[in-house]
Amino acid sequence: MQDKLVQIEKEFEQDAAQIASVENLEAVRIKYLGRKDGEITRVFKLLPQLAVPEKARFGQKINELKEKISQRIEQKAKELETQRKQALLSGAAAGPDTSLPSIKGRIGAEHPLAIVIEEICGLFVEMGFRVMEGPEIETEYYNFEALNIPLEHPSREAFDTFYLENRCLLRSHTSPVQVRFMENNKPPVQIVVPGRVYRPDATDASHSYMFHQIEGLLIDKGITFAHLKGVLGVFAKKLFGEKTQMRFRPHFFPFTEPSAEVDVTCIICSGKGCSVCKQSGWLEILGSGMVHPNVLKAGGIDSKIYSGFAFGMGIERIAMLKYGIDDIRLFFDNDIRFIRQFS
Ligand code: PHE
Repeated sequence: MQDKLVQIEKEFEQDAAQIASVENLEAVRIKYLGRKDGEITRVFKLLPQLAVPEKARFGQKINELKEKISQRIEQKAKELETQRKQALLSGAAAGPDTSLPSIKGRIGAEHPLAIVIEEICGLFVEMGFRVMEGPEIETEYYNFEALNIPLEHPSREAFDTFYLENRCLLRSHTSPVQVRFMENNKPPVQIVVPGRVYRPDATDASHSYMFHQIEGLLIDKGITFAHLKGVLGVFAKKLFGEKTQMRFRPHFFPFTEPSAEVDVTCIICSGKGCSVCKQSGWLEILGSGMVHPNVLKAGGIDSKIYSGFAFGMGIERIAMLKYGIDDIRLFFDNDIRFIRQFS
């Protein structure tokens, strides 16, 4: 009997050492611990043939061996599981490839307009401007009258927009925020105002009934047109490159006097003339001027003591030039394949 037990243990050790898979392990378990025909069951069946004192002694020995084999098999099972995990992580085994980027992680991208707004506001913040916002639903007063555009003024037409109830409308420019800010803040005033604006334009490759502007306003004692040129000059060079030139063309806005439209040298052809600048070498990028005394008055600021300049630019146009985008509608289609290209 003793020999038999020693032999079983020896054989088991040999079998155990060769286990390489869960299937092997299960086969070995059945061979030794199988209830019906396992080696252990078999030796238990031999016990009745033994004399009484031997029975007890070997009964205990068989149980000890059974326990030993069970523990060894459990230990083997754990080893196999660890090996399996390691193989998966190192990619050595076929299984999920944990080095692939996860699908959940794709959360979208910053919109090109948001990138450009951030960049432009950042340039003005470096020059001491604060970023402010104002309401998109505006009253007729702030959108027109306070900006020196009386009811019958012809320049209302280009700005005329979507009317709501109670003489409210979707603002046609960001300029109303000029007066709103002046009403609540004493000079010096130095703000930029990004935001959406609305106009009754038919949509095509370069027009949209909704687009974005950035307004600028600076008011203090002794501010002149030279300050306007200085600030916009720094802005244009930082945004479009050091070689960029500017030109001011006389223009009319009811809320500034004098007024000018500002062009920069074409960023596509550097001023040589191309299809984007219609062979002129120049691109119009913004409207500007010295704040009209009537506008200062509407904001509660004494135009005998203070003066200032204002400007307003369209963001879509600048973003289109910067990124070479030829259709404004692409900004608003909400196609993630388009949006992902810029950040
Ligand atoms: N509000 C004008 C527009 O929408 C732009 C502008 C702003 C012009 C400030 C002069 C001063 O076209």
